[in-house]
Amino acid sequence: MAERVTEKLDNTEAGRARAAAIWRDGGLVAFATETVYGLGADARNDRAVASIYEAKGRPSFNPLIVHVASIAAAQELVEWSEQAQKLADAFWPGPLTLVLPIKPDAGISKLVTAGLSTLAIRMPANPAAQALLQAFDGPVAAPSANNSGQISPTRAQHVLDDLSGRIDAVLDGGACSVGLESTILGLAGTPTLLRPGGVTRDAISASLGLPVALREEGDAISAPGQITSHYAPRARVRLNASTWQPGEARLGFGPVDCDRNLSPSADLTEAAANLFEYLHQLDALGAGTIAVSPIPDHGMGIAINDRLGRAAADR
Ligand code: TXA
Ligand code: MG
Repeated sequence: MAERVTEKLDNTEAGRARAAAIWRDGGLVAFATETVYGLGADARNDRAVASIYEAKGRPSFNPLIVHVASIAAAQELVEWSEQAQKLADAFWPGPLTLVLPIKPDAGISKLVTAGLSTLAIRMPANPAAQALLQAFDGPVAAPSANNSGQISPTRAQHVLDDLSGRIDAVLDGGACSVGLESTILGLAGTPTLLRPGGVTRDAISASLGLPVALREEGDAISAPGQITSHYAPRARVRLNASTWQPGEARLGFGPVDCDRNLSPSADLTEAAANLFEYLHQLDALGAGTIAVSPIPDHGMGIAINDRLGRAAADR
């Protein structure tokens, strides 16, 4: 892979104009969203999209999410539906990705959909992402801006630590407020939760006035966030730790004595925002094992436990 000089761009009009120009030239720019940093490229440019996979070392059968600046831009790419409209009204811009049938003339690279007839699409809420997508004025394919399988980045520095020399720029939009990837909802058939994330299943269900199905293990449409070992630090991860072993890095939740506390007041939203940053920090300490307090399995806790389960899985 050709070595690239990675520019660090500030979130100013000039910084965003530079980032958009790099995208127009087929380059790779990482940018902040409210969930995690994305590694973006022009979704219509095959070579640019191919270089995303190359920079991440990602298996190329994993399809990517397309990011747009508006509902109108989404409607140009996918077969929009009443359900999509309801959910976009309720949750866009925000951490919800909708999977819908792709329009035949959408012009999206086949490498984005990995050959599927559907497209995953979202409109991010982070103001830096919004302004950047408006400046570019086109669809941006972006997976999380990390080496495939490792912890997702929630700070510009995480991206640089992982991908410096392999991407053209990172636009520094500060820390990600949600801190976990978007919820992915399949809407091509029965509404189906493909990945838990920043918007809860219950909130989606309430907005649709319908139950939301869970994806069945082994379903053909699999989200690679569903590859069992994913979001993994270098250290082993021990879950549901109610006592600590000597030498472990201790990731707590609630009123416990530990090295990093996801939320001393046991607030799950705060815990989600801190999760990846603290996994990065504890991993950097070099402990063999990161032990994690039990996390309640409701609300945002479902997405937190999903990520922790994958971080702890056998590799
Ligand atoms: O919050 C997020 O969603 C972040 C930020 C950058 O937007 N992006 C992200 O992308 O998490 P990535 O590539 O790490 O995860 C994308 C997920 C994958 O699990 C993929 O399988 C799923 O989206 N996906 C993409 N297209 C799909 C499709 N047509 N059908 C089902 N799943 C799809
Ligand atoms: Mg990812």
